[in-house]
Amino acid sequence: MSLKIITYPNEILARKSEPVQAIDEDLKKLAQDMVETMYENKGIGLAAPQVGKNLRLITVDISGPEKREDLMILVNPEIVEKEGEVEGEEGCLSVIGYRARVKRAARVKVKAKNLEGEDIELEAEELLAICLQHEIDHLDGILFIDRISRLKRNLYDKRLQKWLKQRKK
Ligand code: CO
Repeated sequence: MSLKIITYPNEILARKSEPVQAIDEDLKKLAQDMVETMYENKGIGLAAPQVGKNLRLITVDISGPEKREDLMILVNPEIVEKEGEVEGEEGCLSVIGYRARVKRAARVKVKAKNLEGEDIELEAEELLAICLQHEIDHLDGILFIDRISRLKRNLYDKRLQKWLKQRKK
């Protein structure tokens, strides 16, 4: 089942999410729904807060949305090492009509659990590293627009307010 994506400035996106306590049927269903939602919206990553659940759960597939070959579902993911710096253009399904260049670590090591409850560890670089950092940021209530200059952010906020007003009319 595809879920509704929550968009900025909804405050759910700004909250720090709680660790997953139990990998039960409810969590597996949520993960499955998130995967469906991610692909349907042509995303390469999705975090649970984006579908209204403040839980530390993310889905990532940088081969997506067409190929769907590298799906990862990470429970309680945590960046344990980061190295270097890279800048790439980012967008977000929760940030309407905007993309911007964001500085990130070039390489990261991430620890998490999979849906079987096993501990996993992965090393990532390039797009995958960026995507993991972006999604894990969501779990801490951080959006990519929190990582751009104040000037750019103000311009975006103004433009968004205008759109939202127009939509209400
Ligand atoms: Co995002």
